[in-house]
Amino acid sequence: MWLNLISDQDLRRKAAVTVGARAKGYLMPSSTFFIGGDRRVRRLGFGAMRLATSPESAREASITVARHAVERGINLIDTAHLYGWGANEELLADALHPYPEDLLITTKIGITRSSGADEMSINGRPEVLHAQIDRALTRLKVDSIELLQLHRIDSDIPLSDQMGALRQAQEAGKVAKIGLSEVTVDQLAQARQTVEIASVQNRYSMFDRTHEPVLEACEAAAIAFLPWRPVAEASGAHADITALASELGATNTQLSLAWLLHRSPVILPIPGTSSIAHLDENVAAADLRLSAETLERIERLISS
Ligand SMILES: NC(=O)c1ccc[n+]([C@@H]2O[C@H](COP(=O)([O-])OP(=O)(O)OC[C@H]3O[C@@H](n4cnc5c(N)ncnc54)[C@H](OP(=O)(O)O)[C@@H]3O)[C@@H](O)[C@H]2O)c1
Repeated sequence: MWLNLISDQDLRRKAAVTVGARAKGYLMPSSTFFIGGDRRVRRLGFGAMRLATSPESAREASITVARHAVERGINLIDTAHLYGWGANEELLADALHPYPEDLLITTKIGITRSSGADEMSINGRPEVLHAQIDRALTRLKVDSIELLQLHRIDSDIPLSDQMGALRQAQEAGKVAKIGLSEVTVDQLAQARQTVEIASVQNRYSMFDRTHEPVLEACEAAAIAFLPWRPVAEASGAHADITALASELGATNTQLSLAWLLHRSPVILPIPGTSSIAHLDENVAAADLRLSAETLERIERLISS
């Protein structure tokens, strides 16, 4: 059923997507996507969560990886207040500021540190969201956050209050576009009553399709879908998937990423790595072309 979703006919219907062409039975997914309909990025992004910020030697290695990502053409990087309580945002600014014009760094807010050093809690109180936005602006050294995502919806606070805080920040020019993370179809619909949602970041991969309905809702509205944990499961891949990857001259990770890029034109994977070699391997996955037959074979292997 889902193969129909990536047919050329469907792709053309989506105004926000540059359409690829079919060649020799291989599908050619678009390499770019327009977030919010007007902000073009390459679909294969980078998740910065795995970049260590201490000790200093590890931080320097992380800076090298972040710069390498941009040198390799990645222009969508995901971070969050949660990652090192702002240290990851600072790391990206130290590595990449002044930013190349086409680079979009997206951050996430809405999680705070609890009493214990490693304890965290979801916190969507409007004053907390406003404070985290202000700190992100300072740490990222920007006047406006191009895409701000609510890391988790706080079930103790009315959703309209949380979305209202983000809309206020948008109206104040502190935030350009708004996204959500780990939401249901209903929550997405409810949030869209208050603000325009440009992205959704839910856990999703070849091996984890729990959020298929959310992906479909994003496709219907041309909302960017950023699957988190897109490749980690691939390391212990099904033996048949490993064999298929090797038949294609690819690694499991590359096949997982290529599958995501073929799965839907609204998918923007953000694989994370602290390794230059893995980063290069992941970037190369964007060139892996899969045929409709291969995609069907993957479905059969995964469900067997
Ligand atoms: N919204 C949310 O709630 C949420 C939650 C978690 C993460 N995220 C975001 O999503 C991004 C990705 O998620 P994730 O880091 O959890 O999962 P992931 O990208 O699926 O997996 C990262 C893991 O895979 C390894 N890896 C990456 N490329 C590899 C390759 N080519 N070959 C072998 N191993 C490879 C990495 O190890 P090496 O470092 O050794 O390469 C790392 O252990 C994060 O960076 C973060 O920005 C969002």
